[in-house]
Amino acid sequence: MTRRYGQLLFTPAARRHQQEHGSHRGYAAMTRGPAGADRLTADEAGFAATRTSFYLASTSSSGWPYVQHRGGPPGFLRATGDRTLAFADYRGNRQYITVGNLDGDDRVALLLMDYPSRTRLKILGRARTAGAKDLPDGEVPMPPDGYRAKVERLVLVEVEAFDWNCPQHIEPRYTAAELEETLAPMRERMAALERENARLRAGSPDPAGAG
Ligand SMILES: Cc1cc2nc3c(=O)[nH]c(=O)nc-3n(C[C@H](O)[C@H](O)[C@H](O)COP(=O)(O)O)c2cc1C
Repeated sequence: MTRRYGQLLFTPAARRHQQEHGSHRGYAAMTRGPAGADRLTADEAGFAATRTSFYLASTSSSGWPYVQHRGGPPGFLRATGDRTLAFADYRGNRQYITVGNLDGDDRVALLLMDYPSRTRLKILGRARTAGAKDLPDGEVPMPPDGYRAKVERLVLVEVEAFDWNCPQHIEPRYTAAELEETLAPMRERMAALERENARLRAGSPDPAGAG
């Protein structure tokens, strides 16, 4: 946990609960010190660049928290500096709840998950819609050919703090592509066995000479 993360989220009420449960001393020590935004390292940047989705929380003017899913091919979310993330926001159901929320309050929380490795990264930041000119390399992360999506806007997130979570209670899950990678050698083996089985049933000699 970073110092900044605790400084932003350990409200007096959270601290009271920590005190009640005996965790406040350790956390108080971890959050003491000068305030300053966290800097993304290669670990956070690499993790973001390989995500195909994340959860994005924003705050509505009615006071209700709002969480929505954002997805895209790897690279649709990427670090553009040690304090900035950018993601391509695709056209969806045109409710515009998140962008509307950002008009009133730019604070967001992102939850990036990697189910196979049971890893999650929480990021707090301030988000705004932007254009290619706001990126250091001017390159909006565009979906590859054949990926059905229209980039409606680019969103920049100025990172304030982040926290890597422990793997507790994360059930490993695999995408179709990840499963395919694991299953491909098994499929090949099964096909070879089926061919061998068919040959044996037919009583024909094995072309490899094994029977
Ligand atoms: C045709 C279409 C219909 C969609 N319908 C829904 C929906 O019913 N509920 C939902 O949560 N997301 C839906 N989505 C995905 C959202 O539109 C998308 O996640 C969008 O970014 C949501 O932004 P917002 O929740 O900030 O308004 C749909 C996307 C498309 C392209």
